[in-house]
Amino acid sequence: MRDLTEANVTDAVIARIGNDTPARVSEIMTALVRHAHAFAREVRLTPDELLYAARFIQRVGHISNDKREEGVLLGDVLGITSLVEAMADNARKGATESSLLGPFYRDGAPFRPNGFDISFGDATGEPAWVGGRVTDADGKPLEGVILDLWQTAPNGFYEGQVGQTMTLPDYAYRAKLRTDADGRYSLRTTKPVEYPVPIDGPVGEILICTGRHPWRPAHLHFLVLKDGYQSVQTELFNSDDQYLDSDAVFGVKASLVVDYVKNADSAVAKKRGFSGPHYETRYDFTLKRAVEVLDLAAEYRRRASISA
Ligand code: BEZ
Ligand code: FE
Repeated sequence: MRDLTEANVTDAVIARIGNDTPARVSEIMTALVRHAHAFAREVRLTPDELLYAARFIQRVGHISNDKREEGVLLGDVLGITSLVEAMADNARKGATESSLLGPFYRDGAPFRPNGFDISFGDATGEPAWVGGRVTDADGKPLEGVILDLWQTAPNGFYEGQVGQTMTLPDYAYRAKLRTDADGRYSLRTTKPVEYPVPIDGPVGEILICTGRHPWRPAHLHFLVLKDGYQSVQTELFNSDDQYLDSDAVFGVKASLVVDYVKNADSAVAKKRGFSGPHYETRYDFTLKRAVEVLDLAAEYRRRASISA
């Protein structure tokens, strides 16, 4: 019998991976063991610290439910989500860049007509109009693209989020829109605001004990879908936000930063359904062709963390 030592335990674990293990699982598990062991060696991990880590993972599980995914948040604050999205984007060059999904997507949002006010007349925020077009990579307008979008209320909490104190209509600040024959979409809302990621759980401890702030720059989330095209989950960030360069979850990309400009033209306001001056911003999305057929229901289910 061979003694297990610091030098040979890694190979011993990897050697146990069975020959019938699916190739991708084998690849991931081999690398996981190799890197986790290298990490433990590098920091000279102690038994107490390992126990702390195991209990940390238990707490991540215990605080998670159908309204909160602490495991997703953990990947987000460690920048792993951002890294994985960046790698996926490399394979989609030419299309709108993606960004984090976050834990507050709720599936089942109703379809609304273009121009709809997703704030339902909420006077606590600054009125804003958002619009633009969706085209393919050659600039051809795409009709019937679904834009499933969500943002916080002006108090920085999503509809349905634990801790939301405003009484909001079901699916307020969430909606599905469809592009028209020119590929255009539009909505009325309130100007997005910055807000902190939840820090009352174990992930918050990471931020606090490493001296990091929990803030996300103001943003509007989009999930953009059309059969025959690659879907994209992304976010549009307000250009005037103080946290653009220090997003707690590393989601900001220059191509996703938009200006909210004041529009004081009363004729435009009237046409759009505002009673006076409002902010406006425009953003055009680009979708690339997909090889696979889109399973819409599966796309929604896969992302939903706040259940309908
Ligand atoms: C969000 O933007 O909704 C979000 C993303 C990552 C972590 C927490 C919130
Ligand atoms: Fe968000």
